[in-house]
Amino acid sequence: MVARDVAELDLEWVEQLIGREESSLADKQPRSIAYQRQAGSRLPGGVSSSWQTAPPHPIYVSRGEGSRVWDLDGNEFVDFHNGYGVMVVGHAHPKIVEAVKRRIELGSHFAQPTEDALIVADNLAERTGLPMWRFGNSGTESTLDAVRLMRAATGRDLLLKVEGIYHGHHDALMVSVYPQPDEMGPPERPNSVAQTPGLPQSYVELTRVVPFNDVEAVQRVFDEFPGQIAGMILEPCMTNLGLTLPEPGYLQAIKDLCHSNGAYLAFDEVKTGATVAWGGAVEAFGVTPDIACFAKAIGGGLPCGGIGGVEELMGLVVRGRVDQVGTFNGNPLTMAASRAALTEVLTKDAYRRFDELLGVLRAGVQQVIDERRLPARITTLGAKGGVNWSADPIREYRDALGIDERIGYAAWLWQFNRGIFKSPWAKWESWTISVAHDEDDVRRYVENFAGFAEAVTGG
Ligand SMILES: Cc1ncc(COP(=O)(O)O)c(C=O)c1O
Repeated sequence: MVARDVAELDLEWVEQLIGREESSLADKQPRSIAYQRQAGSRLPGGVSSSWQTAPPHPIYVSRGEGSRVWDLDGNEFVDFHNGYGVMVVGHAHPKIVEAVKRRIELGSHFAQPTEDALIVADNLAERTGLPMWRFGNSGTESTLDAVRLMRAATGRDLLLKVEGIYHGHHDALMVSVYPQPDEMGPPERPNSVAQTPGLPQSYVELTRVVPFNDVEAVQRVFDEFPGQIAGMILEPCMTNLGLTLPEPGYLQAIKDLCHSNGAYLAFDEVKTGATVAWGGAVEAFGVTPDIACFAKAIGGGLPCGGIGGVEELMGLVVRGRVDQVGTFNGNPLTMAASRAALTEVLTKDAYRRFDELLGVLRAGVQQVIDERRLPARITTLGAKGGVNWSADPIREYRDALGIDERIGYAAWLWQFNRGIFKSPWAKWESWTISVAHDEDDVRRYVENFAGFAEAVTGG
Protein backbone atom coordinates (compact mmCIF):
# COMPACT_ATOMS: atom_id res chain seq x y z
CA MET A 1 0.00 0.00 0.00
CA VAL A 2 1.37 3.45 -0.90
CA ALA A 3 2.21 5.74 2.01
CA ARG A 4 0.22 8.93 2.09
CA ASP A 5 2.18 12.10 1.40
CA VAL A 6 2.97 14.43 4.32
CA ALA A 7 0.74 17.00 2.61
CA GLU A 8 -2.19 14.61 3.10
CA LEU A 9 -1.87 14.99 6.85
CA ASP A 10 -3.98 17.78 8.26
CA LEU A 11 -1.24 20.16 9.40
CA GLU A 12 -3.68 22.51 11.12
CA TRP A 13 -4.76 19.58 13.20
CA VAL A 14 -1.07 18.75 13.88
CA GLU A 15 -0.64 22.32 15.17
CA GLN A 16 -3.59 21.92 17.49
CA LEU A 17 -2.09 18.67 18.72
CA ILE A 18 1.20 20.47 19.39
CA GLY A 19 -0.61 23.17 21.41
CA ARG A 20 -2.41 20.55 23.47
CA GLU A 21 0.76 18.51 24.13
CA GLU A 22 2.83 21.61 24.98
CA SER A 23 0.30 22.72 27.54
CA SER A 24 0.12 19.26 29.08
CA LEU A 25 3.94 19.26 29.32
CA ALA A 26 3.97 22.72 30.91
CA ASP A 27 1.60 21.38 33.59
CA LYS A 28 4.06 18.58 34.35
CA GLN A 29 7.20 20.71 34.46
CA PRO A 30 6.50 23.92 36.42
CA ARG A 31 9.78 23.68 38.29
CA SER A 32 11.84 23.13 35.14
CA ILE A 33 10.22 26.14 33.48
CA ALA A 34 10.84 28.35 36.51
CA TYR A 35 14.41 27.07 36.71
CA GLN A 36 15.10 28.04 33.10
CA ARG A 37 14.13 31.63 33.92
CA GLN A 38 16.44 31.63 36.93
CA ALA A 39 19.34 29.92 35.11
CA GLY A 40 18.95 32.23 32.12
CA SER A 41 20.25 35.14 34.18
CA ARG A 42 23.70 33.54 34.31
CA LEU A 43 23.79 30.82 31.63
CA PRO A 44 22.83 31.95 28.11
CA GLY A 45 19.52 30.22 27.39
CA GLY A 46 19.69 28.64 30.84
CA VAL A 47 21.99 25.90 29.53
CA SER A 48 25.66 25.02 29.03
CA SER A 49 25.57 24.10 25.34
CA SER A 50 23.34 25.74 22.74
CA TRP A 51 21.97 22.36 21.69
CA GLN A 52 20.81 21.60 25.23
CA THR A 53 17.86 23.82 24.61
CA ALA A 54 15.14 23.08 22.10
CA PRO A 55 11.44 23.95 22.00
CA PRO A 56 9.44 24.09 24.13
CA HIS A 57 12.07 24.51 26.90
CA PRO A 58 15.25 22.74 28.07
CA ILE A 59 14.74 19.40 29.78
CA TYR A 60 16.56 19.62 33.11
CA VAL A 61 17.55 16.20 34.40
CA SER A 62 18.16 15.42 38.05
CA ARG A 63 19.30 11.79 37.87
CA GLY A 64 19.46 8.60 35.86
CA GLU A 65 19.47 4.90 36.65
CA GLY A 66 19.47 2.02 34.17
CA SER A 67 17.16 2.88 31.28
CA ARG A 68 15.46 5.72 33.21
CA VAL A 69 15.99 9.41 33.84
CA TRP A 70 14.09 11.81 36.11
CA ASP A 71 13.54 15.47 35.39
CA LEU A 72 13.72 18.33 37.87
CA ASP A 73 10.00 17.96 38.52
CA GLY A 74 10.36 14.27 39.40
CA ASN A 75 8.82 12.90 36.19
CA GLU A 76 10.28 9.56 35.10
CA PHE A 77 11.20 8.72 31.49
CA VAL A 78 12.59 5.79 29.56
CA ASP A 79 15.71 7.33 28.08
CA PHE A 80 16.06 7.01 24.30
CA HIS A 81 18.18 10.17 24.11
CA ASN A 82 20.89 8.63 26.28
CA GLY A 83 23.02 11.75 26.03
CA TYR A 84 23.32 11.40 22.22
CA GLY A 85 24.21 7.74 22.63
CA VAL A 86 26.95 8.17 25.23
CA MET A 87 24.89 6.22 27.76
CA VAL A 88 24.57 3.04 25.72
CA VAL A 89 25.95 1.51 28.94
CA GLY A 90 22.82 2.64 30.84
CA HIS A 91 22.81 5.20 33.64
CA ALA A 92 24.92 4.55 36.73
CA HIS A 93 25.91 1.07 35.58
CA PRO A 94 27.33 -0.66 38.71
CA LYS A 95 30.52 -1.75 36.92
CA ILE A 96 31.27 1.78 35.78
CA VAL A 97 30.36 3.33 39.12
CA GLU A 98 32.71 0.88 40.79
CA ALA A 99 35.56 1.52 38.32
CA VAL A 100 35.30 5.30 38.66
CA LYS A 101 35.05 5.14 42.47
CA ARG A 102 38.07 2.87 42.67
CA ARG A 103 40.02 5.20 40.42
CA ILE A 104 39.10 8.49 42.08
CA GLU A 105 40.26 7.18 45.42
CA LEU A 106 43.69 6.71 43.82
CA GLY A 107 43.78 10.26 42.42
CA SER A 108 41.91 11.59 39.44
CA HIS A 109 44.40 13.60 37.41
CA PHE A 110 48.14 13.72 36.88
CA ALA A 111 48.51 14.89 33.25
CA GLN A 112 50.58 11.73 32.98
CA PRO A 113 49.45 8.38 31.55
CA THR A 114 47.92 5.60 33.61
CA GLU A 115 47.87 1.92 32.70
CA ASP A 116 44.22 1.73 31.67
CA ALA A 117 44.91 3.64 28.42
CA LEU A 118 46.68 0.66 26.87
CA ILE A 119 43.81 -1.69 27.72
CA VAL A 120 41.34 0.73 26.14
CA ALA A 121 43.54 1.10 23.04
CA ASP A 122 43.88 -2.70 22.76
CA ASN A 123 40.12 -3.10 22.90
CA LEU A 124 39.48 -0.42 20.28
CA ALA A 125 42.19 -1.84 18.02
CA GLU A 126 40.47 -5.22 18.21
CA ARG A 127 37.07 -3.69 17.44
CA THR A 128 38.26 -1.66 14.44
CA GLY A 129 41.48 -3.19 13.16
CA LEU A 130 43.18 0.21 13.49
CA PRO A 131 46.58 -0.23 15.12
CA MET A 132 47.53 3.03 16.90
CA TRP A 133 45.44 5.12 19.32
CA ARG A 134 45.48 8.45 21.10
CA PHE A 135 42.85 9.86 23.45
CA GLY A 136 41.28 13.27 24.02
CA ASN A 137 38.18 14.73 25.63
CA SER A 138 35.51 15.18 22.98
CA GLY A 139 34.40 14.35 19.49
CA THR A 140 35.45 17.83 18.42
CA GLU A 141 39.02 17.12 19.47
CA SER A 142 38.97 13.78 17.67
CA THR A 143 37.93 15.20 14.31
CA LEU A 144 40.28 18.18 14.78
CA ASP A 145 43.22 15.82 15.34
CA ALA A 146 42.20 13.62 12.40
CA VAL A 147 42.05 16.44 9.86
CA ARG A 148 45.31 17.87 11.17
CA LEU A 149 47.02 14.53 10.66
CA MET A 150 45.62 14.15 7.14
CA ARG A 151 46.84 17.64 6.27
CA ALA A 152 50.23 17.07 7.86
CA ALA A 153 50.76 13.74 6.09
CA THR A 154 49.91 15.12 2.64
CA GLY A 155 51.10 18.71 2.95
CA ARG A 156 47.72 19.70 1.44
CA ASP A 157 45.19 22.17 2.86
CA LEU A 158 41.84 21.22 1.34
CA LEU A 159 39.38 18.93 3.08
CA LEU A 160 36.30 17.21 1.81
CA LYS A 161 33.20 16.78 3.97
CA VAL A 162 29.58 15.79 3.47
CA GLU A 163 26.78 18.34 3.47
CA GLY A 164 24.56 18.02 6.54
CA ILE A 165 27.00 16.22 8.82
CA TYR A 166 28.20 17.71 12.10
CA HIS A 167 31.73 16.86 13.16
CA GLY A 168 32.13 19.13 16.19
CA HIS A 169 32.58 22.84 16.64
CA HIS A 170 36.13 23.57 15.47
CA ASP A 171 36.72 25.91 12.52
CA ALA A 172 37.81 23.37 9.90
CA LEU A 173 34.56 21.39 9.95
CA MET A 174 31.79 23.67 11.14
CA VAL A 175 30.96 24.07 7.48
CA SER A 176 27.67 23.20 5.73
CA VAL A 177 26.30 21.43 8.79
CA TYR A 178 22.70 22.59 8.35
CA PRO A 179 22.95 25.01 5.39
CA GLN A 180 19.75 26.78 4.40
CA PRO A 181 18.28 26.28 0.90
CA ASP A 182 19.00 29.86 -0.16
CA GLU A 183 22.72 29.57 0.61
CA MET A 184 23.65 25.98 -0.18
CA GLY A 185 24.12 26.27 -3.96
CA PRO A 186 23.40 23.68 -6.67
CA PRO A 187 23.45 19.99 -5.70
CA GLU A 188 26.18 19.16 -8.22
CA ARG A 189 28.47 21.80 -6.65
CA PRO A 190 27.33 22.71 -3.13
CA ASN A 191 28.64 25.90 -1.57
CA SER A 192 30.79 25.69 1.53
CA VAL A 193 28.65 27.50 4.10
CA ALA A 194 29.88 28.73 7.49
CA GLN A 195 27.62 27.19 10.13
CA THR A 196 28.15 30.12 12.45
CA PRO A 197 29.40 33.69 12.36
CA GLY A 198 32.95 33.80 13.63
CA LEU A 199 34.47 31.40 11.10
CA PRO A 200 37.07 33.08 8.87
CA GLN A 201 35.83 32.77 5.25
CA SER A 202 39.30 31.66 4.18
CA TYR A 203 38.98 28.62 6.47
CA VAL A 204 35.49 27.84 5.20
CA GLU A 205 36.74 27.73 1.64
CA LEU A 206 39.36 25.16 2.52
CA THR A 207 36.56 22.69 3.22
CA ARG A 208 34.76 21.50 0.09
CA VAL A 209 31.35 19.90 0.38
CA VAL A 210 29.63 16.95 -1.32
CA PRO A 211 26.27 15.21 -0.83
CA PHE A 212 26.15 11.89 1.07
CA ASN A 213 25.83 8.72 -1.01
CA ASP A 214 27.20 10.39 -4.15
CA VAL A 215 30.49 8.97 -5.43
CA GLU A 216 30.50 11.04 -8.61
CA ALA A 217 30.38 14.26 -6.63
CA VAL A 218 33.55 13.20 -4.80
CA GLN A 219 35.20 12.36 -8.11
CA ARG A 220 34.27 15.84 -9.42
CA VAL A 221 35.93 17.59 -6.48
CA PHE A 222 39.10 15.53 -6.85
CA ASP A 223 39.12 16.44 -10.56
CA GLU A 224 38.57 20.12 -9.79
CA PHE A 225 41.35 20.29 -7.18
CA PRO A 226 44.00 17.80 -8.34
CA GLY A 227 46.72 17.13 -5.78
CA GLN A 228 45.18 19.56 -3.28
CA ILE A 229 42.86 17.51 -1.11
CA ALA A 230 44.32 16.10 2.10
CA GLY A 231 41.42 13.82 2.88
CA MET A 232 37.72 13.29 3.25
CA ILE A 233 35.85 12.96 6.52
CA LEU A 234 32.34 11.60 6.87
CA GLU A 235 30.03 9.76 9.20
CA PRO A 236 29.81 6.33 7.59
CA CYS A 237 26.11 6.39 8.38
CA MET A 238 24.43 9.74 9.00
CA THR A 239 23.01 9.83 12.52
CA ASN A 240 21.34 13.21 12.35
CA LEU A 241 18.80 12.42 9.61
CA GLY A 242 17.24 9.58 11.52
CA LEU A 243 19.74 6.94 10.50
CA THR A 244 20.68 7.42 6.86
CA LEU A 245 22.66 4.41 5.71
CA PRO A 246 25.41 4.36 3.10
CA GLU A 247 24.34 2.71 -0.13
CA PRO A 248 26.10 -0.58 -0.94
CA GLY A 249 29.60 0.09 -2.25
CA TYR A 250 29.57 3.81 -1.39
CA LEU A 251 32.13 3.76 1.44
CA GLN A 252 34.55 1.49 -0.40
CA ALA A 253 34.28 3.63 -3.55
CA ILE A 254 35.07 6.76 -1.52
CA LYS A 255 38.04 5.06 0.08
CA ASP A 256 39.36 3.97 -3.33
CA LEU A 257 38.89 7.47 -4.75
CA CYS A 258 40.71 9.06 -1.82
CA HIS A 259 43.62 6.66 -2.19
CA SER A 260 43.89 6.97 -5.94
CA ASN A 261 44.14 10.74 -5.43
CA GLY A 262 46.80 10.51 -2.72
CA ALA A 263 44.31 11.53 -0.02
CA TYR A 264 43.16 9.88 3.23
CA LEU A 265 39.75 8.75 4.44
CA ALA A 266 38.55 9.56 7.97
CA PHE A 267 35.42 8.09 9.52
CA ASP A 268 33.67 10.12 12.17
CA GLU A 269 32.54 7.34 14.48
CA VAL A 270 31.71 9.70 17.32
CA LYS A 271 28.12 8.47 17.28
CA THR A 272 28.41 5.14 15.48
CA GLY A 273 31.40 3.89 17.50
CA ALA A 274 30.49 1.13 19.98
CA THR A 275 26.79 1.69 19.23
CA VAL A 276 25.83 0.49 15.72
CA ALA A 277 27.86 -2.70 16.20
CA TRP A 278 30.59 -4.05 18.51
CA GLY A 279 33.12 -2.85 15.94
CA GLY A 280 31.15 0.31 15.12
CA ALA A 281 30.64 1.32 11.51
CA VAL A 282 33.86 -0.41 10.46
CA GLU A 283 32.23 -3.72 11.36
CA ALA A 284 28.71 -2.75 10.26
CA PHE A 285 29.75 -1.69 6.75
CA GLY A 286 32.98 -3.65 6.27
CA VAL A 287 35.20 -0.71 5.32
CA THR A 288 38.21 0.40 7.39
CA PRO A 289 39.26 4.05 7.03
CA ASP A 290 42.78 5.40 7.44
CA ILE A 291 41.76 7.15 10.63
CA ALA A 292 38.64 6.91 12.78
CA CYS A 293 37.37 9.47 15.28
CA PHE A 294 35.65 8.28 18.42
CA ALA A 295 34.07 9.88 21.50
CA LYS A 296 30.70 9.53 23.25
CA ALA A 297 29.97 5.82 23.86
CA ILE A 298 33.59 4.69 24.27
CA GLY A 299 33.93 6.73 27.48
CA GLY A 300 31.28 4.96 29.55
CA GLY A 301 29.66 8.32 30.38
CA LEU A 302 32.75 10.43 31.05
CA PRO A 303 34.04 13.14 28.68
CA CYS A 304 36.19 11.38 26.12
CA GLY A 305 37.62 11.32 22.63
CA GLY A 306 39.89 9.00 20.72
CA ILE A 307 41.50 8.60 17.33
CA GLY A 308 42.68 5.34 15.87
CA GLY A 309 44.75 5.34 12.72
CA VAL A 310 47.11 3.59 10.37
CA GLU A 311 50.86 3.86 10.78
CA GLU A 312 51.23 6.39 7.94
CA LEU A 313 49.19 8.90 9.93
CA MET A 314 49.86 7.96 13.54
CA GLY A 315 53.56 7.60 12.71
CA LEU A 316 53.66 11.41 12.53
CA VAL A 317 52.76 11.45 16.21
CA VAL A 318 55.16 8.61 17.01
CA ARG A 319 58.02 10.55 15.40
CA GLY A 320 57.03 13.83 17.04
CA ARG A 321 56.24 15.56 13.74
CA VAL A 322 52.70 16.30 14.92
CA ASP A 323 51.97 16.92 18.58
CA GLN A 324 48.63 15.43 19.56
CA VAL A 325 48.14 17.02 22.95
CA GLY A 326 45.82 17.95 25.81
CA THR A 327 46.10 18.33 29.58
CA PHE A 328 43.23 15.94 30.18
CA ASN A 329 44.05 13.47 27.37
CA GLY A 330 43.74 9.91 28.61
CA ASN A 331 42.72 11.17 32.03
CA PRO A 332 42.53 8.43 34.63
CA LEU A 333 38.80 8.67 35.37
CA THR A 334 37.82 8.49 31.71
CA MET A 335 40.21 5.65 31.04
CA ALA A 336 38.85 3.70 34.02
CA ALA A 337 35.24 4.23 32.89
CA SER A 338 36.18 3.46 29.31
CA ARG A 339 37.94 0.24 30.27
CA ALA A 340 34.91 -0.95 32.24
CA ALA A 341 32.50 0.08 29.46
CA LEU A 342 34.43 -1.57 26.65
CA THR A 343 35.64 -4.72 28.37
CA GLU A 344 32.81 -5.48 30.82
CA VAL A 345 29.58 -3.84 29.65
CA LEU A 346 29.60 -3.45 25.86
CA THR A 347 30.38 -7.09 25.17
CA LYS A 348 29.39 -8.88 21.96
CA ASP A 349 26.31 -10.20 23.80
CA ALA A 350 25.14 -6.64 24.39
CA TYR A 351 24.93 -6.06 20.63
CA ARG A 352 22.99 -9.30 20.10
CA ARG A 353 20.49 -7.99 22.67
CA PHE A 354 20.27 -4.58 20.94
CA ASP A 355 19.41 -6.38 17.70
CA GLU A 356 16.65 -8.36 19.43
CA LEU A 357 15.12 -5.37 21.18
CA LEU A 358 15.26 -3.03 18.23
CA GLY A 359 13.90 -5.84 16.06
CA VAL A 360 10.79 -5.80 18.26
CA LEU A 361 10.60 -2.02 18.12
CA ARG A 362 11.14 -1.80 14.38
CA ALA A 363 8.55 -4.46 13.58
CA GLY A 364 5.99 -2.77 15.83
CA VAL A 365 6.57 0.68 14.38
CA GLN A 366 6.61 -0.62 10.80
CA GLN A 367 3.24 -2.31 11.36
CA VAL A 368 1.76 0.99 12.51
CA ILE A 369 3.31 2.84 9.55
CA ASP A 370 1.82 0.29 7.14
CA GLU A 371 -1.62 0.15 8.77
CA ARG A 372 -1.96 3.92 8.92
CA ARG A 373 -0.15 4.54 5.61
CA LEU A 374 2.08 7.03 7.45
CA PRO A 375 4.65 9.09 5.54
CA ALA A 376 7.36 7.72 7.82
CA ARG A 377 10.36 5.39 7.66
CA ILE A 378 12.11 3.62 10.49
CA THR A 379 15.73 2.48 10.38
CA THR A 380 17.64 0.75 13.18
CA LEU A 381 21.21 -0.49 13.48
CA GLY A 382 22.74 -1.95 16.64
CA ALA A 383 21.61 0.22 19.55
CA LYS A 384 20.54 3.13 17.32
CA GLY A 385 17.48 3.98 15.34
CA GLY A 386 15.36 6.79 14.04
CA VAL A 387 12.15 7.67 12.26
CA ASN A 388 12.15 10.04 9.29
CA TRP A 389 8.81 11.69 8.62
CA SER A 390 9.00 11.34 4.88
CA ALA A 391 7.17 9.10 2.41
CA ASP A 392 10.26 9.03 0.19
CA PRO A 393 13.60 7.49 1.14
CA ILE A 394 16.21 9.89 2.52
CA ARG A 395 19.63 9.40 0.88
CA GLU A 396 21.23 12.69 1.81
CA TYR A 397 20.69 16.03 3.57
CA ARG A 398 18.74 17.78 0.80
CA ASP A 399 16.18 14.98 0.66
CA ALA A 400 15.20 15.87 4.22
CA LEU A 401 14.76 19.61 3.73
CA GLY A 402 11.14 19.23 2.73
CA ILE A 403 10.19 17.36 5.90
CA ASP A 404 7.63 19.36 7.85
CA GLU A 405 9.20 19.97 11.26
CA ARG A 406 5.83 20.10 12.95
CA ILE A 407 5.21 16.37 12.60
CA GLY A 408 8.52 15.36 14.17
CA TYR A 409 7.99 17.89 16.92
CA ALA A 410 4.47 16.68 17.63
CA ALA A 411 5.77 13.08 17.71
CA TRP A 412 8.50 14.10 20.18
CA LEU A 413 6.00 15.84 22.47
CA TRP A 414 3.63 12.89 22.30
CA GLN A 415 6.35 10.41 23.28
CA PHE A 416 7.73 12.70 25.98
CA ASN A 417 4.35 13.27 27.60
CA ARG A 418 3.96 9.50 27.70
CA GLY A 419 7.29 8.69 29.29
CA ILE A 420 9.77 8.33 26.39
CA PHE A 421 12.64 10.81 26.24
CA LYS A 422 14.14 11.21 22.77
CA SER A 423 16.66 13.87 21.81
CA PRO A 424 14.77 17.17 21.74
CA TRP A 425 16.03 17.93 18.20
CA ALA A 426 13.02 16.06 16.93
CA LYS A 427 13.26 16.64 13.21
CA TRP A 428 16.71 15.21 12.78
CA GLU A 429 18.06 13.10 15.57
CA SER A 430 18.48 9.37 15.86
CA TRP A 431 18.11 7.76 19.30
CA THR A 432 19.96 5.08 21.24
CA ILE A 433 18.90 2.34 23.63
CA SER A 434 21.19 0.96 26.33
CA VAL A 435 22.14 -2.37 27.86
CA ALA A 436 19.60 -1.57 30.60
CA HIS A 437 16.61 -1.30 28.24
CA ASP A 438 14.17 -4.18 28.19
CA GLU A 439 11.23 -5.32 26.11
CA ASP A 440 8.74 -3.23 28.12
CA ASP A 441 10.78 -0.13 27.31
CA VAL A 442 10.74 -0.71 23.57
CA ARG A 443 7.07 -1.75 23.62
CA ARG A 444 6.23 1.52 25.35
CA TYR A 445 7.83 3.34 22.39
CA VAL A 446 5.71 1.30 19.96
CA GLU A 447 2.47 1.86 21.92
CA ASN A 448 3.11 5.58 22.01
CA PHE A 449 3.92 5.59 18.31
CA ALA A 450 0.63 3.82 17.61
CA GLY A 451 -1.25 6.36 19.75
CA PHE A 452 0.43 9.23 17.94
CA ALA A 453 -0.32 7.67 14.56
CA GLU A 454 -3.99 7.46 15.49
CA ALA A 455 -4.02 11.05 16.72
CA VAL A 456 -2.14 12.51 13.78
CA THR A 457 -4.28 10.80 11.17
CA GLY A 458 -7.43 11.96 12.89
CA GLY A 459 -8.32 8.60 14.54
C1 LIG B 1 29.10 12.85 14.39
C2 LIG B 1 29.65 13.77 15.43
N1 LIG B 1 30.95 14.12 15.39
C3 LIG B 1 31.50 14.94 16.29
C4 LIG B 1 30.73 15.46 17.32
C5 LIG B 1 31.35 16.39 18.32
O1 LIG B 1 31.46 15.74 19.54
P1 LIG B 1 31.58 16.58 20.89
O2 LIG B 1 30.24 17.20 21.13
O3 LIG B 1 31.96 15.53 21.90
O4 LIG B 1 32.64 17.59 20.68
C6 LIG B 1 29.39 15.13 17.41
C7 LIG B 1 28.56 15.67 18.49
O5 LIG B 1 27.39 15.46 18.62
C8 LIG B 1 28.83 14.27 16.44
O6 LIG B 1 27.53 13.94 16.47
